[in-house]
Amino acid sequence: MGYFNLDRDIARLILLQRTEIITPKLKNLRKIFGRYFFTNFVSKYLISPKSIGARYYEVMHQEMNQLKTHLNFENKKILSIGSGMCGLELLINSNFKGNFFSIIEKNYISKKVTYGWDEKNDEAYNRIDLLNFFLINNDMDKKNFEIFDYDKDDLPLKTYDYVISLYSLDYHYDFLFYKDYLKKILNENTMIIFDTVRPEFFKNVFESVEVIQNEEKTIHSSKRIICKKFKKISCDK
Ligand SMILES: C[S@@+](CC[C@H](N)C(=O)[O-])C[C@H]1O[C@@H](n2cnc3c(N)ncnc32)[C@H](O)[C@@H]1O
Repeated sequence: MGYFNLDRDIARLILLQRTEIITPKLKNLRKIFGRYFFTNFVSKYLISPKSIGARYYEVMHQEMNQLKTHLNFENKKILSIGSGMCGLELLINSNFKGNFFSIIEKNYISKKVTYGWDEKNDEAYNRIDLLNFFLINNDMDKKNFEIFDYDKDDLPLKTYDYVISLYSLDYHYDFLFYKDYLKKILNENTMIIFDTVRPEFFKNVFESVEVIQNEEKTIHSSKRIICKKFKKISCDK
């Protein structure tokens, strides 16, 4: 199995983005001392960057293997919403040819990461400078990606083959935050993949909704869906 090059600051963000990487020992500390202490102390000083890098690689590899059974990853334009540290995008880039990634992320780290449904969408755990560094440091060519700050930048108005948002769009914050934007950029063939607790709702939004994963293990049990083509008249609010 491979690994990602990373330093302590990047490992910390990965740990905040992917809860399955938190070891039972660190989870215990979170339980005892609370989420504020976990976010600001445990995740900074009591972690092993090397083992986080290895475990993150393993988890992202599993994600890529699952997605590649549904999607063809050669020469595609991919929009990643809430990509975290982009381990998935790095693996797609190194295993398949000719892909280009537009990445939308937030550029701040919440003081207390809670992982719940975020009504106002003001929770985030990323730094765009570190994300840019991580991608280049793990052999993604600068010409193969661009990064947009959700809160500051105009979002890219291009067409994409795939929009991918794992455990972000409609998992942590409402699809509505992106709906108007997505309506502008999705074409008939664009496939959008995300995790949600309410796949039935999206049958009113899209012409086609396919469930490809049923995640019962996590606190926010969710389904991973692939959707295509906005309905002309949708019943969503
Ligand atoms: C649970 S993490 C998942 C990261 C990554 N997709 C993964 O599977 O490892 C959710 C990510 O969404 C980002 N995020 C939160 N609100 C966002 C928004 N409005 N637009 C884009 N990204 C957002 C957070 O900063 C965080 O990196």
